[in-house]
Amino acid sequence: RRIDILGIATASGASVRGCGMGPEALRVAGLVEALIELDHAIADHGDLRRQHPEMSTNPASTRLPEERKADVLDLAARASDAGLDILSEGNFPVFLGGDHSIAIGTVSAVARHCATQNTPVHVLWIDAHADYNTPETSPSGNLHGMPLALLCGEPEFDESYKGPWLGRIDPRNVTIFGARSIDREERRLVQARGVEVIDMRKLDQMGVVATMQKVIDKAKADGAHLHVSFDVDSIDPAIAPGGGTLVPGGLTYREAHLVMEMLHDSGVVGSLDVVELNPFLDHGGKSATLMVDLVASLFGRSIMGEEPGPMEFVTDSE
Ligand code: ARG
Ligand code: MN
Ligand code: MN
Ligand code: MN
Repeated sequence: RRIDILGIATASGASVRGCGMGPEALRVAGLVEALIELDHAIADHGDLRRQHPEMSTNPASTRLPEERKADVLDLAARASDAGLDILSEGNFPVFLGGDHSIAIGTVSAVARHCATQNTPVHVLWIDAHADYNTPETSPSGNLHGMPLALLCGEPEFDESYKGPWLGRIDPRNVTIFGARSIDREERRLVQARGVEVIDMRKLDQMGVVATMQKVIDKAKADGAHLHVSFDVDSIDPAIAPGGGTLVPGGLTYREAHLVMEMLHDSGVVGSLDVVELNPFLDHGGKSATLMVDLVASLFGRSIMGEEPGPMEFVTDSE
């Protein structure tokens, strides 16, 4: 299956600027070459970006919340339509963020496509955060903390957040993996809706294999399309410093690769987001390179496979 890359170059859902440069950094780190080396056919669709670039010199914090919201929803609508096209043609979309609000559009594309096929959508949200706030519960007002709640149909989102482009997923088919920072009200919602949360404590105790196998088995039993939404801040900040909302105690290098290797072998993954990479905060491309290597594992690179693994030793530039 061809892999179709679509960047959504925005930071409008975040309060820290810089992750709008994420798609380009992932390309510079060799994303396309890594996938070609694994014998995949690739189409790069370039990047969607905000309609009013003249405003982008303003710090996100001084831009009006309504303006940022309009950006996020406009990009979501366009990402949803573009993603739907990619999926309808039978290709595998890889969406490059951008902050995590881009998933409003990307997961919508998947939900709309799967609705036409009568296929259930399962979502694996690999993240330090739950991103299940609503406009009422959000402590920050940042939309990158709310995509799952909107996609799961939380009633606190009014009609201004919606359009024919918005898809819907079932919270009981969502697994949040690697969480270690969830807001109080957010935690209540996640629990009430039956979202599965594999937090870092659970991961420490049970390990990647047992926890991931459950996610994979559930998706397989359901004949589901598994969408993976991969937030760079799920990884430990010591090895992935390029994010605007870092939390200590994240996935190790091998834990993250093992997740991707198991997902590859499962064959159930049908679409991917790579989000929240902030090249401005990264150290010499270290986080971008790690993300590319992890995507390569998801697409079949393995230690004993024919293709060479990551060969350069990345030193901390600090
Ligand atoms: N829970 C916090 C909030 O809602 C942080 C969210 C961070 N999300 C992210 N995609 N990095 O503001
Ligand atoms: Mn996130
Ligand atoms: Mn996060
Ligand atoms: Mn630093």
